[in-house]
Amino acid sequence: MSTDRGVFLSVEGVEGVGKTTAIGMLEALLADRGIETLRTREPGGTPLAEAIRGLVLGAGAEEPVTDTTELLLMFAARAQSVAHVIRPALEHGQWVLCDRFTDATLAYQGHARGLPLRRIYELAEWVHGDLWPHTTLLLTARAETVAARLADRAGGPDRIEREPGSFFERAEQGYLALAASDPKRYRVVSTDGSLEALRADLARLVDELMAPQDSETT
Ligand code: TMP
Repeated sequence: MSTDRGVFLSVEGVEGVGKTTAIGMLEALLADRGIETLRTREPGGTPLAEAIRGLVLGAGAEEPVTDTTELLLMFAARAQSVAHVIRPALEHGQWVLCDRFTDATLAYQGHARGLPLRRIYELAEWVHGDLWPHTTLLLTARAETVAARLADRAGGPDRIEREPGSFFERAEQGYLALAASDPKRYRVVSTDGSLEALRADLARLVDELMAPQDSETT
């Protein structure tokens, strides 16, 4: 983490893994401990970044989106989000809870699409320098759990959700490789169990995150 005061948390995982549920729980657990979080998402978080989200996820088949365009749009949205949402909040000492960040680009555009990771790290350095999440929660679930959740989802799939299963398997493997390479930043939590089990896992994570904060103030 490279901010002065706030704590930057990101939540990652492939579609259907339960990100929205986990983020809601984290928000509530932090609120119970007196911490108000700024919740945001990527791509998105500002009006322009949300418009970019619509473009990159909503594009139709009439003009195929190149992998490079997809990558650059993710970073264009991120540049807005970092400048106007994430950095200002952290500088004001706020906790930021971000639904995806550059790890998603590494997993999806890097591992799943096959773009060179080196290029992605170069763009990351350009767009957010040494600002990386303090902690990244990676949610995982068995393929059957994910398939059942996706089947329940309202609304049609977006452009990326229409990719074949093998695409998401590569993204998942990419995430696991990232987590293994940076165990200090990543926490891997399974969402296969009950909601109570998930809440207990997240409560442990929140307590761990708050421990250094407590010691700073005592
Ligand atoms: P979601 O936030 O609702 O899961 O949707 C965002 C989609 O965008 C999801 O399919 C993952 C994808 N994505 C990327 O491919 N690269 C990125 O850098 C980000 C932030 C998201």
